[in-house]
Amino acid sequence: MKQVLLTGGLALVLTAFTAAPSLNVDAQLNYCVGQATKTAAMLPKSAPNLPRNILAGKTSWNYIRYTDWTSGFWPGTLWYLYEFTKDPKWKAKADSFSRELAPLARQKAIDHDIGFQMYCSFGNGLRLTGNPEYKQLLLASADTLATLFNPKVGTILSWPRSVPNMEWPQHNTIMDNMINLELLFWAAKNGGGKGLYTMAVSHAATTMKNHFRPDYTSYHVVVYDRDTGKKIKGVTHQGYADHTMWARGQSWAIYGYTMTYRETKDPVFLDFAQKVTDVYLERLPADLIPYWDFQAPDIPDAPKDASAAAVTASALLELSTLVKDKAKASHYRDKAEQMLESLSSAQYQSRSVNPAFLLHSTGHKPNNSEVDASINYADYYYIEALLRLKKLRTGKPVLAKL
Ligand code: GLY
Repeated sequence: MKQVLLTGGLALVLTAFTAAPSLNVDAQLNYCVGQATKTAAMLPKSAPNLPRNILAGKTSWNYIRYTDWTSGFWPGTLWYLYEFTKDPKWKAKADSFSRELAPLARQKAIDHDIGFQMYCSFGNGLRLTGNPEYKQLLLASADTLATLFNPKVGTILSWPRSVPNMEWPQHNTIMDNMINLELLFWAAKNGGGKGLYTMAVSHAATTMKNHFRPDYTSYHVVVYDRDTGKKIKGVTHQGYADHTMWARGQSWAIYGYTMTYRETKDPVFLDFAQKVTDVYLERLPADLIPYWDFQAPDIPDAPKDASAAAVTASALLELSTLVKDKAKASHYRDKAEQMLESLSSAQYQSRSVNPAFLLHSTGHKPNNSEVDASINYADYYYIEALLRLKKLRTGKPVLAKL
């Protein structure tokens, strides 16, 4: 990282990344172990006991139950800590917190988030332990998620309930829903049936067609006629305006289409993953951590969203292993490393401020909730990205066991 000092009336310090970074990944992972140790020591003994956020200016977590959309991120983080440390203490905690989510597998789908919830927790658990019980829970979860698929539209119904501006009972699909296809792809390969694969591909292709503007920035939500499948409108829910690029939404697109290409090997999705990535990278501020919405009217005073940066860094590490063009691959890899270096700085790590890993994420700005906060999914994707980088540096694929 190179700092450029400009003077003239007001002194400005611009941070410019000019050289390949040399992040000490183990030091950051050990930092995560230290922070999680503090969190683990403060958890309530019974539900709600899953940490979700620490609001700006506060020092302790707000806790949620297994039904909350973010319930998989703490168990998932614990699995990553186990992967890094190999310490059975983390494995036991990861298992125990994952099990809190088990009822989701077979109860009526609350919404599409079952993919986040179960795949981040039990998905990582299965990858690291091979526990057959986890496999059955994941297969049942995929079937539960599949109940939300509307074949007339070709996508999953993200929110099966009335949400303002979504014209309920019409069919809504949100960009975030792309991440949950990973559960369907996994299940299709592991005994769940080819229909789940077809659904996931249909969702990705339909979303590609309807969810993006000509410059490849995404709408947060598309509302469809549930009977004809016709697109009614593209709107926002968590972004600044219908026409703007909500940062985390675009991160979900980058991650989602990278994963969809990995699972399908269809070059259309690889090309698309690069297009949605390039527009995001071109418009980032100097420290590579986006404002919560790329067109927030009060930039540069608008809150940042470190969670979007963590999701994107993790996705770019995988994308860098998938693109054929070597220059493009190293561009994505460099950007991911630079994002992780930025997130690992005193500006973004929580350190002694609070026991989370990261500061400065924004959950739902229009609702004024979780603004400039520490949030569990920022931490989850941050540690995931650090582990992916560690694997790549030792010649392993990003999804391998460390
Ligand atoms: N999936 C909800 C969010 O990204 O805030």
